Amino acid sequence: MKIGIIGAGFVGRAIGKLAVQAGHQVMLSNSRGPQTMFSLRYAVGAEVGTVDEAVAFGDVVVVAIPLSAYRAVPVEPLAGKIVIDTNNYYHERDGRFPELDARATTTSELLAGHLPRSKIVKAFNAITMKDLESEGKPAGVPDRRALPLAGDDADTKAVAVKLYDEFGFDAVDVGPLSEGWRFERGTPAYCVPFTKADLQKVLASTMRDGPLSA
Ligand SMILES: NC(=O)c1ccc[n+]([C@@H]2O[C@H](COP(=O)([O-])OP(=O)(O)OC[C@H]3O[C@@H](n4cnc5c(N)ncnc54)[C@H](OP(=O)(O)O)[C@@H]3O)[C@@H](O)[C@H]2O)c1
Repeated sequence: MKIGIIGAGFVGRAIGKLAVQAGHQVMLSNSRGPQTMFSLRYAVGAEVGTVDEAVAFGDVVVVAIPLSAYRAVPVEPLAGKIVIDTNNYYHERDGRFPELDARATTTSELLAGHLPRSKIVKAFNAITMKDLESEGKPAGVPDRRALPLAGDDADTKAVAVKLYDEFGFDAVDVGPLSEGWRFERGTPAYCVPFTKADLQKVLASTMRDGPLSA
């Protein structure tokens, strides 16, 4: 696959590196331009470009920027494309989003509202990039860690499942994008390692109005 990545921080670099190792072609981008990512070409093994170039490059585009910047993601060039949303809400960083504080929507539904003609899957948000780069295991190993995803389109979700598997993780599909709250920040599944069977149980028993941990 050709994967364009908007954001070249912890998430962009980790997903980019693992995708290159899995045989994909990757282009990283950030807000400041490719001249600021000179060494990343060698560290990650990816191409670097502007946001517009990364969006045009990717059959699949990963959004890996702070949530506060989600409205800067280009809309028309992403029409019809698969978009993997890795974002989380940290009010300390992103400022307050009253609709998220009220748990009336999710970060990925905000992005989907901004990108109405794109196919969004919420994935890779509920694991630290340190763990993503170090905890992958071959399929079939009994204690293989599982990661959650949510989305409205089966083919789009299959792309996230494939990447999870290539990076060494099982997948648990929680259903439509509107169910993505089950693994947002502060929920029991957020950045906690579980096998597939255990993650399924934890996600099923998560309450939307339950207490949030940090
Ligand atoms: N770190 C983790 O382990 C982790 C795990 C799962 C999910 N997440 C979530 O993933 C998202 C990214 O986190 P991160 O840790 O990778 O952040 P980060 O290290 O701070 O990197 C953010 C990247 O986004 C770029 N960026 C910011 N505004 C942009 C814009 N308008 N257009 C293009 N690029 C822009 C930045 O580029 P410039 O420096 O050029 O602005 C930078 O490369 C966050 O929502 C975070 O909560 C993080």
